[in-house]
Amino acid sequence: MKIGVLKEQAPGERRVALVPGVVATLSATGVEVLVETGAGARANFPDSTYDAQGAAVASRTEICREADVIVCVGPPDGLEPRRGQLLVGLLRPQERPEQLRAWARTGATVVSLDLLPRTLSRAQAMDALTSQATVVGYKAVLVAANAYGGYFPMLVTAAGTVRPASVLVLGAGVAGLQGMGTARRLGAVVTGYDVRPEAREEVRSVGARFLDLPGGPDAGGTGGYARELTDEEREAQQQALRTAIGDADVVITTAGVPGRRPPVLVTEEAIKEMRAGSVVVDTAAGPLGGNVALSKPDTTVVVDGVTIIGAGNLAATMPAAASTAYARNILAILAHLCPGGEPRIDLTDEIQDAIVVAHEGELRHEC
Ligand code: NAI
Repeated sequence: MKIGVLKEQAPGERRVALVPGVVATLSATGVEVLVETGAGARANFPDSTYDAQGAAVASRTEICREADVIVCVGPPDGLEPRRGQLLVGLLRPQERPEQLRAWARTGATVVSLDLLPRTLSRAQAMDALTSQATVVGYKAVLVAANAYGGYFPMLVTAAGTVRPASVLVLGAGVAGLQGMGTARRLGAVVTGYDVRPEAREEVRSVGARFLDLPGGPDAGGTGGYARELTDEEREAQQQALRTAIGDADVVITTAGVPGRRPPVLVTEEAIKEMRAGSVVVDTAAGPLGGNVALSKPDTTVVVDGVTIIGAGNLAATMPAAASTAYARNILAILAHLCPGGEPRIDLTDEIQDAIVVAHEGELRHEC
């Protein structure tokens, strides 16, 4: 079997789907790996490091022609897979329905890791959303600490006692919990909030206080995800969050609802009530919007002294760690999809049923 690794083309994207260490593992099992020229360069894995682990460095055209399986991080533009070829990545099918329909028509098998059933324990090694969100939560805190003009921890010095920063993390999924734990380790006083009732205990387990909103919505959905709030619920939530946002030195937002625009949790009015010098990091800021009314993707804006950082692609800013974890997820998914070294699609399997978006010409999920 030949596996092709594409070079990511999205602006700012520095990750790569397979790292040399994982190539070595695959090569040892007899799999041939073709890596597009320069694919790992921006994650500090030059072509020579792949070559040293037994991969062949090749052009994009050669990879598309030769590979049985093509792996990538984000959705590749302009790719035309061929019938029977397997394409695996975080393909964001709900954002790109036309692209998915076009791939389905080719007869290729398209596998999107965004759709993995994440609460299944046997799927955990394949969970790329979790591995990437872990990076996001950690890095969001570093970005916030860097932009904040004060200390995170309490310090007792000869020049007096410094109070610790208060950090509010909105959304307590994988990124949010990692952010809370990281901010705690830096010594901040941390509060976490989420609409899923089970998040209360998860927030406490990482040493943060849970923010109880009087009359706050209880919005657990399916598969561990939140459901989208109604307009009335959203407005009530935005109002109820204002006091906590105004009291915080740093607000980090990580709230998402699969396939939907991120909910706005921090309104313009709430930002106006923040102290000058406060920092807001919006990890949901992307083309569909974000959790913060005034945030702009990949841009920092300062409004009345409040720094608002649109940081929707933080995983790409720690490319070595993010790519290494992602490559291990890919290794696990390939072991599942290609037992015995050849693609073998079994749609009666719960994991495959969820992640195979297109197969043998059929689009299997409504995008
Ligand atoms: P996500 O990125 O979809 O959303 C992040 C968080 O935002 C979620 O906790 C969600 O409840 C929250 N959120 C959504 N709308 C909100 C609103 N209006 N206000 C406040 N918070 C809001 O979530 P992620 O990190 O992808 O995790 C999804 C779920 O999968 C979580 O329940 C997580 O615990 C679960 N999970 C379970 C795993 C396991 O069982 N092994 C592994 C990974 C994730």
